[in-house]
Formats: sequence, C-alpha cells, structure tokens
Amino acid sequence: MNTTQEIQILLIEDSPTDALLIEEALVDVQDFQHKLVHAERLSDALSSIIPTHFDIVLLDLGLPDAKGIDTFRSFHQKAPELPVLVLTGLEDMSVGLLAIQDGAQDYLSKREISSSELGRAIRYAIERHRVAMALKESEERFQLAVRGASAGLWDWNPQSGAIYLSPHFREILGYEAHELPGLNQAVLDAIHPDDVDRVRESLAAHLEQKRAYDIEYRVRTKSGEFRWIHSRGHALWSPSGEAYRMVGWIIDVTERRLAEEALRESREELQRLSANIQRAREEEKTRIARELHDDLGQQLAALKLECARSQGRVDGADGPTTQADMSNVYALIDQLVVSVRRIATDLRPAMLDDLGLIPAIEWLIERFSSLYGVRVAQRIDADDIDFNDDSSTAVFRIVQEALTNVARHSGASEVRVDIAHNDRDCIVCIADNGRGCRGDARPASNSFGLLGMRERATALRGELKVQTAPDRGFTITVRLPLAAVGARDHETSRGVPR
Ligand SMILES: Nc1ncnc2c1ncn2[C@@H]1O[C@H](COP(=O)(O)OP(=O)(O)OP(=O)(O)O)[C@@H](O)[C@H]1O
Ligand SMILES: [Mg+2]
Repeated sequence: MNTTQEIQILLIEDSPTDALLIEEALVDVQDFQHKLVHAERLSDALSSIIPTHFDIVLLDLGLPDAKGIDTFRSFHQKAPELPVLVLTGLEDMSVGLLAIQDGAQDYLSKREISSSELGRAIRYAIERHRVAMALKESEERFQLAVRGASAGLWDWNPQSGAIYLSPHFREILGYEAHELPGLNQAVLDAIHPDDVDRVRESLAAHLEQKRAYDIEYRVRTKSGEFRWIHSRGHALWSPSGEAYRMVGWIIDVTERRLAEEALRESREELQRLSANIQRAREEEKTRIARELHDDLGQQLAALKLECARSQGRVDGADGPTTQADMSNVYALIDQLVVSVRRIATDLRPAMLDDLGLIPAIEWLIERFSSLYGVRVAQRIDADDIDFNDDSSTAVFRIVQEALTNVARHSGASEVRVDIAHNDRDCIVCIADNGRGCRGDARPASNSFGLLGMRERATALRGELKVQTAPDRGFTITVRLPLAAVGARDHETSRGVPR
C-alpha cells in the first residue's frame, strides 16, 4: 500500500460519541493521511458511495435503519467491491466473525479502539482486499482462458484421490455438473480399456520421474460413445518429493483424430490403388508379350520356311525362285504386318471373332499341315462348350504355339490335335511322334512358348502337363475347368445361373 496517498474513509456510525472516538483515533494514526466522510444511516452511506470513491468503510452494525449482520449484508450486497471493517460492541463480537465469513475484511471492537490498532486494521483490510481482488481477477482470467480454449479443468489430490472437475470437463464426457463423482477412480473408469495402461504409465512417469504428462486417449461418455481427448497436466511436489497436487486440462480432439484417421485411410487406399495399377500394367505388358510371341512366332516360322523355299533350298528341291514363291513370301509379310497392327490395338486374334474357336483351329491345322507337310489327325468334340473370349483366345494360342513348336523342334511326320470334355473339364491335347526331348530339360532362358501356354492355363484355373522323352514324341495336355471356360450347355443343364 502506498502510505503517502490519502486514504478515503467512509465511517457509518450513528453514535456521535463513538464517531468522535474513531475520528480522534484516526487523527493520531502516523502511517497514512486520510479523508473521512461520516454517515449516520445506512441509506445515507449507500447514496454517498456512488459519487465518491472510498478505500475503506468502517461500518457499525447497530444503525437506525439496519441491525446486526443484516447491516453488513445489505451494504455488501450494494457495494461488493468495497473493503469493509466491521465495528462491533463487546456484546456482538460473534457477529463480527459472521461478517468475515460473509466477506468483510476484518472486525474491530469499538471499546478497544486505539490509533495503532485502528491504523493497522485499516491497512490490513485494504491490503487483504487488494490481494483478494487480484486473486479473483486472475482466477477469472484463467477461467476465461480455459473456457475460450474449450478445455475442461481437473485438479487432483494424488494422496486422497479427490479430484475437482470443471463443469466443462464433465460436459466433454456428456455429464451434468452433479453427475460425475469427484473421485479419480471415476475418471479412470471412463478410459477406454485399450488406453488405460498407457495413461497410468504416463501418469506414473510424471509423478515419479517428472516426465511431461501430455497424452491423447479415448474416454467413454455418458451415452456410451467413445471420444478422443488430449490431456495435459502438471504436479506439485513436497520437499520430500511426494506429489501432493496435480492440475491439468483436457480438450476434445475427436474431430481431429477422425480427420487424421480418414486421411491415413485414404493414403493407404491410394497406395493400394497405385500398387494395383502397377500390377495391372505389368500383367498387361506380359499379356502383350505373350500374344506377340504366340502370334508372330508362328508367322515368322512360316515366313522363314517360305523364304528358304523361295531360294530353292528346301528338301533339296533346287530350282530358280519363281514369281509364285515370291508372291507367297509377300503374302506372309502382309499377314505379319496385319497381325502386328492388330495386336497393337486388340489382342484377340481377329479370326476368332470372324469364325469362332473351332473353325479357327481347323483353319490353323489346315495351314500348318499344308505349310509343313505334317499329317494332322484331329478329333474335336466341343460343340456344346460355349467358350468365352478369354478361354477361346487361350485355347487358340495354345494350339497355335504347340503346332509352331512341332514345326520347329519335332521333325514329326504326324500330330494329333484333340479337344474334348468331361463333366468338369475341357481337355486340349497336342501330341506328335517326333524326336521329343528330355522330360527334365530346362527351357532356354529365351524360351517363352511353354511358359506362356502354362500361364494361359493357370489364368483359367487349369493346368498344363508335358510328356516327352528322346525319340518318344512330345505331348502337351491342357485341362481347363468348364466353369472357367464358360460352358453354357453344361452349366444350364445343371441349373447353375451364368
Ligand atoms: N514338339 C516338340 N518336340 C520336341 N521338342 C519340343 C517340342 N516342343 C517344345 N520342345 C522343346 O521345348 C523347348 C521349349 O519350348 P518353348 O516353346 O517354350 O520355347 P521355344 O519354342 O524354344 O522358343 P519360343 O517358343 O520362345 O520361340 C524347345 O526349345 C524345345 O527344345
Ligand atoms: Mg515355342
């Protein structure tokens, strides 16, 4: 308190003797200068506090218009911001205590008033009031900050387990002010079972090792729904190192957590999608390579043969190159160009669409037989199999590659092509009587034909088997489940919807 400043005092006292006594005592106070305003009635005093600022009020409790504790209460209600020093007679000292409980700064017995006592009481009352006002202001500022940050406050006594929960804390958990008991256990019970250990460990680490308590976890709200909260706190430790109080706040971070979760999921989905796209690209590349191999391989083999013939070096039949030979070569080159163009746009052999699978295979056999002079025995029993696009392409390519291999590797004079089916499978078999090869021979690193045939069979949930031995011919058997091949007649006869 600044003692050089003049203290404005309002004395409310109806007894002239007592008023005089107090005025005289005040004159002798050394510590401060003062200015006194005297009112005899409560109503007069209340009207004078509006125009004038007072630092302290000396209030007698027995006035003409008010008696006892009600005197203080009426005054305090009208001027709660003014510090009041209650003046009591000897007989009403207990009322003084009551007044302190209700907000008075102090009380003084009029019969014992001395200058020093009065000076000390006035200074003490003003100072106490100033500190209380500052505390109240800082509490209000804190509450406003907490409310502004939508935080719920908690104040926990680790020794007794008692916990203060602010109204907003309870609100975050969906409770009314009176509903959640002020016990730490009630708060712990609300924590999600999967998060309890983490919270307990973090709390222990703070209380025992003073590590930061800053954690996010889920709590069960009154409705049973779980929400994410962010909780921070700080403890106070006694000199012996025991935590005796811990204060902190919580905020509801559910929306942020959900947004983070959604973001994470969409990132994962994106990664999955790009992996799928990558895989699809690889598969497509492989598919194009297979088609090029199977289609162009056969045509290149035929072209090679025709070129050799046209040079008059086939089967020792010497002779000049004829116009007809060259026409055959040009025709094959034309076909090759057409195939390359078509494969670039549509991987399916055109004749499959034009003719259907079985006539296309018959055309293939006819062409193979006439080009290479190999006798072909065919037995095709597949009229009631309705090959779909995938399976007809696969079967056509398998037969095509197998016949190309016969022409290139077997030296066979005869080949059998069988297509048949039983209740479950379609079976495609190409068998020649040529030189065969060792059954355990590993294909060369640049051999793709058999590999591609096997892949085509597997893609239709079927399988491919090779039987061969040196000088024992070469047999390829492919088994394809009818369900994957697309057997209309077979499936409808069993009432299976397509
Ligand atoms: N009908 C057959 N008679 C004898 N050997 C064969 C027959 N078919 C395949 N082979 C052997 O199996 C190997 C692998 O055949 P595959 O079709 O996988 O490759 P390729 O024909 O050598 O080369 P690509 O087909 O890639 O042009 C052949 O190199 C050949 O040794
Ligand atoms: Mg081959």
